[in-house]
Amino acid sequence: MAKHKLLITGGAGFIGSHVVRLFVNAYPDYDIVNLDKLTYAGNLENLKDIENKPNYRFIKGDITDGDFIQNLFASEHFDGVIHLAAESHVDRSISNPLAFVVTNVVGTVNLLNAALAHWKDDLSQKRFYHVSTDEVYGSLGDTGLFTETTPYDPKSPYSASKASSDHFVRAYHNTYGLNVVLSNCSNNYGPHQFPEKLIPLFINNIKHNKPLPVYGDGKYTRDWLWVEDHATAIDVVYHKGRIGETYNVGGFNEWQNIDLIKVLCKTMDEKLGRETGSSEKLITYVKDRAGHDRRYAIDATKINQELGWAPSLQFEEGIAKTVDWYLANEEWLDHVTSGAYQQYYEQQYDQR
Ligand code: NAD
Ligand code: TYD
Repeated sequence: MAKHKLLITGGAGFIGSHVVRLFVNAYPDYDIVNLDKLTYAGNLENLKDIENKPNYRFIKGDITDGDFIQNLFASEHFDGVIHLAAESHVDRSISNPLAFVVTNVVGTVNLLNAALAHWKDDLSQKRFYHVSTDEVYGSLGDTGLFTETTPYDPKSPYSASKASSDHFVRAYHNTYGLNVVLSNCSNNYGPHQFPEKLIPLFINNIKHNKPLPVYGDGKYTRDWLWVEDHATAIDVVYHKGRIGETYNVGGFNEWQNIDLIKVLCKTMDEKLGRETGSSEKLITYVKDRAGHDRRYAIDATKINQELGWAPSLQFEEGIAKTVDWYLANEEWLDHVTSGAYQQYYEQQYDQR
């Protein structure tokens, strides 16, 4: 029997690299292709440990190039897609919304078109999995949780572009019968996250005794999930999720930013052998993000009850592991902050 051929998009990014690693290690009988444009957020150094495995291949390419995507599907005969490639940083979306429309909306529709064109005779046997965010639901008040039926109310250019792509995925299921499944996940943290997002940025700044820029009053709330737990959720949704369904993924782990930052400061003081309280002195309140969503929190009951998924790590343990990883992987962090990681592709792949 032919091997199951799986396309993972955005596999050189933060979450994508954890998903690629999980699938490559767990499914030696799959043929796994990682398609990534290697934007500033894509880093093949994230995948050094699995890059020579026989069931893994990397292809550099752009999901916004419709002809390229059509040709890729024609030559590769994929059985399934897990689509993570995206522009993902809210602050960047505020500076340049159009880039988010092009990658997140047009890129997703290119993939949907290619899947439909190449799978049309066998639609129910193929699977298109779209990985999305809880930010599509907008912002919560002090109480309540996002469920799968919460109306969409995106408020940043990033979340608006992700919401739009989610709608296209569901429309292709409703209109053409594409076998889709979606998940909407809360904020992830862990190794390999690009240090412009809150946790890795603050770890790096504490390390270098630089100010910690807290937006607004610091009382914004996020629901944090260990990135490897997101990868296990993606595994169960890809294999067991019902056609056309959406699953919310979260850690039941809400933190106000300022409380999380204090835990991070305390952990860093301990790990670096600094006097308790020294990292907190770096906290600096700065101008708020425009249109800053106040609170996100996920109700992950459906994926738990239907598919048996649950997060594995408590937050304090996850934060300690994350700090340990960033401190032990100085070279990764230095390459990312200096831009040197972008040469890795040429060194590693151009001479092949
Ligand atoms: P990331 O920014 O770290 O990685 C995105 C990857 O996509 C990068 O490797 C980048 O090179 C690639 N990419 C970007 N544009 C591309 C293009 N045009 N063609 C091909 N590849 C391209 O993002 P992440 O944090 O790993 O998020 C991955 C996915 O998960 C996104 O779809 C995001 O919306 C979603 N998500 C993220 C979080 C989070 O907390 N980070 C939470 C929920 C959902
Ligand atoms: P971020 O990691 O950018 O994720 P998202 O905006 O997608 O939730 O930010 C997490 C929270 O931290 C968010 O409320 C914004 C805040 N934040 C700061 O206070 N300072 C910073 O420098 C950054 C990057 C984020």
